[in-house]
Amino acid sequence: MAFFDLADFDDHEQVVFCSDEASGLKAIIAVHNTNLGPAVGGCRMWDYASDEEALVDALRLSKGMTYKNAMAGLKMGGGKSVIIGDAKSIKSEALFKAFGEALNRINGRYLSAEDVNITTSDIAIVNTVTPFVTGTEGKSGNPGPFTALGTFLGIKASVKHKLNRDDLTGLKVAVQGLGSVGYGLCEHLHKAGAKLYVTDINQAALDKAAVEFDATVVSLDEIYDQDVDVYSPCALGASINDKTISRLKAKIIGGCANNQLAEPRHDKALVDNGILYAPDYVINAWWHH
Ligand SMILES: NC(=O)c1ccc[n+]([C@@H]2O[C@H](COP(=O)([O-])OP(=O)(O)OC[C@H]3O[C@@H](n4cnc5c(N)ncnc54)[C@H](O)[C@@H]3O)[C@@H](O)[C@H]2O)c1
Repeated sequence: MAFFDLADFDDHEQVVFCSDEASGLKAIIAVHNTNLGPAVGGCRMWDYASDEEALVDALRLSKGMTYKNAMAGLKMGGGKSVIIGDAKSIKSEALFKAFGEALNRINGRYLSAEDVNITTSDIAIVNTVTPFVTGTEGKSGNPGPFTALGTFLGIKASVKHKLNRDDLTGLKVAVQGLGSVGYGLCEHLHKAGAKLYVTDINQAALDKAAVEFDATVVSLDEIYDQDVDVYSPCALGASINDKTISRLKAKIIGGCANNQLAEPRHDKALVDNGILYAPDYVINAWWHH
């Protein structure tokens, strides 16, 4: 693999490959930029199809964190980590401790926290061996609810800007992903009177949203075709791409997912289609406050 030539390599300061045979840990820590301060960004656990896919995810996510922390006015740089493997089977105390030891070796240039498939109890285990984490229970806690509120406020601001309305009653929103952030976002939107169209790979979350928010459940692929005002990507990245842009009827994209655009050129395609895009690293940055 030609590392320095990868399209997503952007002069990252440091990329560390960590492994621990005993616990099965395989992780990549990417420190993109520390000009403003230590790199801060969550840890994602995902069953990547290849090591290269994991590396590209870490590179893209860490770069996004540099933008996010800078835009939020924080004295923090951008970094992110990924642990490779299926969250349903690989989690163990030993694995999270080994990850904490890996953080110790970077010695504070990178601080980790929760991201997809990493919970506050996982971070609590990491925290038993290293101080280099944030988002711990009793301190800043799970960032999900703060991100959900920030994303909701970002959608409100986008609706005001694009549709010139303050009231969200009857606003139609398609939410992709009902996890820690997406589900909380749905709560805010439902309270504000919005009509929700939702999808997820997790049937239990869909059933709950249908009951609690009177949400209309649609299939994973149909989410792009919904006749809605807002498309809210709240699962993984790259959902805005050559295949999906022409299908979107929404005039606004506002969601918490990181790296929503598959490629940088897709921002121009959105402008050409008359779609207002609330940049992911702005709308999902609120949890730091
Ligand atoms: N947690 C935070 O505070 C935070 C902050 C900023 C950005 N983000 C980003 O927001 C996104 C969601 O984070 P989260 O913490 O809610 O994660 P989460 O793991 O709690 O939720 C993700 C949800 O997406 C669902 N999902 C996975 N693949 C899907 C698919 N193909 N289609 C539809 N749904 C799918 C999962 O089943 C899950 O319900 C991620 O991109 C994350 O990087 C999270």
